Amino acid sequence: MNYTLICMLCGLYAVLARDKEQKGKYSVPVLNVETQQLVLNASDSLLLSCRGRWEVAWLFPSGLASDQVQVEEFRCGRTKRQYCSRVTVSHSQAQHTGRYRCQYRHRPIRHASVYVYVADSQQPFAVGPGRSPDVLWMKERQPLVIPCRVTHPSVVTTLVKFPNQRMKPDHVNILWDSKQGFTIRTPTLNCTGFYFCQSIIDAVTHNSHNYYVHRTVTEIKQVSLNSSGSVRALKGERLVLNCTATAALNTRVNITWDYPKKNKNIGSISKTLVRHPTHLLFYSILSLPRLQRSDRGLYTCQVCSGDNSKQANVSVTVYDRPFIRLKPRHGLVMEATAGEKSYKITPKLKAFPVPQVVWLKDGKDAAKQCSRYRMENSSLVIRDVAEEDAGKYTVLVRIQEHGLCQNLTFTLKVKVSPQIGEKAASLQDPGSVPRGSRRSLHCTSHGVPPPHIQWRWHPCSSNGLPAAPQA
Ligand SMILES: *[C@@H]1O[C@H](CO)[C@@H](O)[C@H](O)[C@H]1NC(C)=O
Ligand SMILES: *[C@@H]1O[C@H](CO)[C@@H](O)[C@H](O)[C@H]1NC(C)=O
Ligand SMILES: *[C@@H]1O[C@H](CO)[C@@H](O)[C@H](O)[C@H]1NC(C)=O
Ligand SMILES: *[C@@H]1O[C@H](CO)[C@@H](O)[C@H](O)[C@H]1NC(C)=O
Ligand SMILES: *[C@@H]1O[C@H](CO)[C@@H](O)[C@H](O)[C@H]1NC(C)=O
Ligand SMILES: *[C@@H]1O[C@H](CO)[C@@H](O)[C@H](O)[C@H]1NC(C)=O
Ligand SMILES: *[C@@H]1O[C@H](CO)[C@@H](O)[C@H](O)[C@H]1NC(C)=O
Ligand SMILES: *[C@@H]1O[C@H](CO)[C@@H](O)[C@H](O)[C@H]1NC(C)=O
Repeated sequence: MNYTLICMLCGLYAVLARDKEQKGKYSVPVLNVETQQLVLNASDSLLLSCRGRWEVAWLFPSGLASDQVQVEEFRCGRTKRQYCSRVTVSHSQAQHTGRYRCQYRHRPIRHASVYVYVADSQQPFAVGPGRSPDVLWMKERQPLVIPCRVTHPSVVTTLVKFPNQRMKPDHVNILWDSKQGFTIRTPTLNCTGFYFCQSIIDAVTHNSHNYYVHRTVTEIKQVSLNSSGSVRALKGERLVLNCTATAALNTRVNITWDYPKKNKNIGSISKTLVRHPTHLLFYSILSLPRLQRSDRGLYTCQVCSGDNSKQANVSVTVYDRPFIRLKPRHGLVMEATAGEKSYKITPKLKAFPVPQVVWLKDGKDAAKQCSRYRMENSSLVIRDVAEEDAGKYTVLVRIQEHGLCQNLTFTLKVKVSPQIGEKAASLQDPGSVPRGSRRSLHCTSHGVPPPHIQWRWHPCSSNGLPAAPQA
């Protein structure tokens, strides 16, 4: 009886213990090595195993080819409820140096890792010299890493900038980490160029791969669309917009379009890059095959590079059909005054597509009749208005390709202020006239509208000179 109770308690304890183990342990997978790093000799074998509560997966250094590694997976633990994975690299090489990471397949953020150095005195750099240099993009004020990792933690290296500038770690701006390479903390413009790392082992000089450091530039000089202001088009027509971004050399840009039907995936975009000795030109061409009324709106071309951005926009109007709307602005009868510097006849005109406009004066081409007549957009401008400018002015508006035509005729009156002809012809003093005789006086006058003529008499003063007028 007592014996059974103890056994029951034991069993209960075992169950509780297992649950505890299940909950707390293996929240991350566990590796069979407890150190942060391992140092192997080249051609040693590397054996790693990983255990976890769920299925695990590995991430290996990029220098380890998949046929150089063997992975075995199996269930493990007392009740085979755990997942184990064993990795074997039977003949390790310098380029296998790097981080080996074991992670849960469904939650890669839960992981364990170890950094493995595969020491090789013939090959101190994990990435051997290659033909073409790696391109590194440098951003100002952001650390620049020259990734010449080494195969043993105590390898001593020097950073060399072509042709022969040698830099040693100074713990301030130039840092060394055997797992990463060199870091230049705050690179400046003069940091662009060719670099490699150098290590001297047993009096033999070893050079790393070459790195070409470029400066990342994010300078957008200008963005423009090939139609400024607004675009007008007819329904069914094709719309093509050309966005041009001018940027400093070495700049990379992203060009995005925003327009009414963007979300419906209507419209195709093509891109080109043209290099000039002093700048780059990026083109992005948006085309919509058949315009609908619903395509009207704002079209924006947004150009981004790093933190910089610039945009250009254009508003697009779509008309159902071609049209001409022609109306007088203030009535059909107009009045100008002779001697005015200029007079403008401006009808109200709206039309699409752009119409031809012709002005007639009394039925004949106005511009051909008089050099003082000039067209300004759809208006007619008369310079130095004269009496003979009075007449009928007709504006003809035509869109030939669509067979549309309208006209409007204005009547222009020109006021002329009255002139006395005799005054211009330096009228002779009529002189003295014998008392009782008959004498007629003439006054010729012209004006538009015709002037009224009124005569007034002024008695002479005693000295024979005219006195102040008297009505
Ligand atoms: C690697 O080789 C060196 C001698 O070449 C030896 O001293 C060292 O113990 C070896 N290391 C390992 C981990 O086998
Ligand atoms: C860049 O110039 C600064 C100051 O002139 C100098 O200290 C630094 O070593 C230069 N760096 C390189 C990579 O030439
Ligand atoms: C439109 O883009 C092309 C590049 O495909 C370019 O050559 C051309 O000059 C651009 N046209 C205009 C008017 O901007
Ligand atoms: C813009 O440029 C494209 C391509 O170069 C051209 O097809 C289109 O007609 C141009 N659009 C305008 C409004 O000039
Ligand atoms: C362009 O956009 C992509 C993703 O939207 C981003 O990863 C990339 O850094 C951008 N490039 C530049 C030059 O801004
Ligand atoms: C369109 O571009 C102009 C300048 O070209 C800018 O002032 C305006 O804010 C832009 N409109 C929109 C909606 O982005
Ligand atoms: C002609 O019309 C355009 C826009 O319709 C306007 O910008 C331009 O100033 C006009 N030209 C003259 C000389 O009035
Ligand atoms: C002006 O329009 C009318 C119809 O509205 C037409 O009968 C007349 O011929 C047109 N005049 C000219 C000069 O085209």
